[in-house]
Amino acid sequence: MPAVTNAVARRDIAFHIHSQTNPKLFEEKGPLVVARGEGARIYDGSGQVYIDAMAGLWCASLGFANERLAAAATKQYSQLGFYHTFFHRTSDAVASLAEKLVELTGMVGGKAYFATSGSEANETMVKLAWIYHTVRGKPAKRKVIARDRAFHGSTIAAASMCGLEFMHREFGLPLPGFLHTLCPSPYRGMLAGEDEAAFVERLAAELEVMILHEGPDTIAAFIAEPIHAGGGIIVPPAGYFARIRAVLAKYDILCLDDEIVCGFGRTGNWFGKETVGMKPDMIALAKGLSSAHFPISAVVVAPAIYDALYEFNRQGGAFGHGFTNSGHPVGVAVATEAIRIYEEMGVVDHVRRMGARLRSHFEEIGRVSPIVGEVRGAGLMLGIELVEDKATRRAFPPERQAGPTFDRLAYESGLIARCMGDVLGFSPPLIVDERDVDEIADRCAASLKRLEICLSAG
Ligand SMILES: Cc1ncc(COP(=O)(O)O)c(C=O)c1O
Repeated sequence: MPAVTNAVARRDIAFHIHSQTNPKLFEEKGPLVVARGEGARIYDGSGQVYIDAMAGLWCASLGFANERLAAAATKQYSQLGFYHTFFHRTSDAVASLAEKLVELTGMVGGKAYFATSGSEANETMVKLAWIYHTVRGKPAKRKVIARDRAFHGSTIAAASMCGLEFMHREFGLPLPGFLHTLCPSPYRGMLAGEDEAAFVERLAAELEVMILHEGPDTIAAFIAEPIHAGGGIIVPPAGYFARIRAVLAKYDILCLDDEIVCGFGRTGNWFGKETVGMKPDMIALAKGLSSAHFPISAVVVAPAIYDALYEFNRQGGAFGHGFTNSGHPVGVAVATEAIRIYEEMGVVDHVRRMGARLRSHFEEIGRVSPIVGEVRGAGLMLGIELVEDKATRRAFPPERQAGPTFDRLAYESGLIARCMGDVLGFSPPLIVDERDVDEIADRCAASLKRLEICLSAG
């Protein structure tokens, strides 16, 4: 490691706390000091290059440096570097982006609200759901049903909606009133002899049992990612969201769509809801919205939700909500430019082509590898589930560390992927070309071969 990198690493170890990082391991190994980015690649202080097949955190859809986004930010900074959107304030850019998001999401007659992170967007949807029911004379409708293996963020209510134990255990979460129904994983959730249609019926029936047990008059909303991201790239079975929607409608429960990973082309449609046939009342957007080049998120709501908010205030209620940087002009400028680039590059067609190419490489790898149980996903959001026994789908015992070992081997070969247990996640920048896709697949295949050797050695 060159001296500069060493110095940065030392200072980082001395002064910086990292997210989702084991401090002991971190102090032993030190950080990866990222010096610069170019397209889908990042460079460390010594010039070592990595292709980041996770777009950072499923977010840098336009890669790690983009002149047009930089120019949009610079221009906005010199014109208006900050203003807020409380108390009737706005700007041309904010109003235009709100209009664009309503149009793109197909939320006819709807409106958009801005925040700065995905967690805030999800929590905003919960508060709006509470207002919606209160105004309609149902203030006891407070509970939120999420799903096992969901990821919805790290703030306290968003973490409560996660269906991942490590997000709860140390914090005494979930908060009361945040419930979890079954994860619609065909690979792990279907019973012997059950087909997808029967599985969907069982998932819908389980949800209904939960609603009846809790009391329909206590449930405000159901929240879901169209395709689970951090829970292990789980594509629900065909017809799942239509059946779930029917159950929700029967009990007057709102459907909240967390598009924070799936939005803006990731799954081969503009939004994941199109890929899985979901019809939500509210949609949370972040990450790809600005290609993560500025922290900005949004919630797009159906007209009925806005009408409820209007009525709530008319009746004397106050919408006591908002973030200093909601509708930050620079974030709005960057997001507007990112969307313009997605449109110009034909993001949906591009993702479909590159996603199909990466998937067919992975399927070929899976055919020959004895430890690939399933390749799944949509567009450029793909997962490979590792198993000890393909025929029975038997998982590796956790102490074998199959997924984490793959991560290490891939990293040593210059590929950044992300294991979620033994599911390997791939969610590269959407600008990847054929050469990038082939490189990701080649490095993945080589790392899997090395993993097989490690695992068979003990
Ligand atoms: C599906 C999903 N929802 C919400 C979030 C939270 O977003 P943020 O980290 O911006 O709060 C994430 C973050 O990874 C996510 O993957």
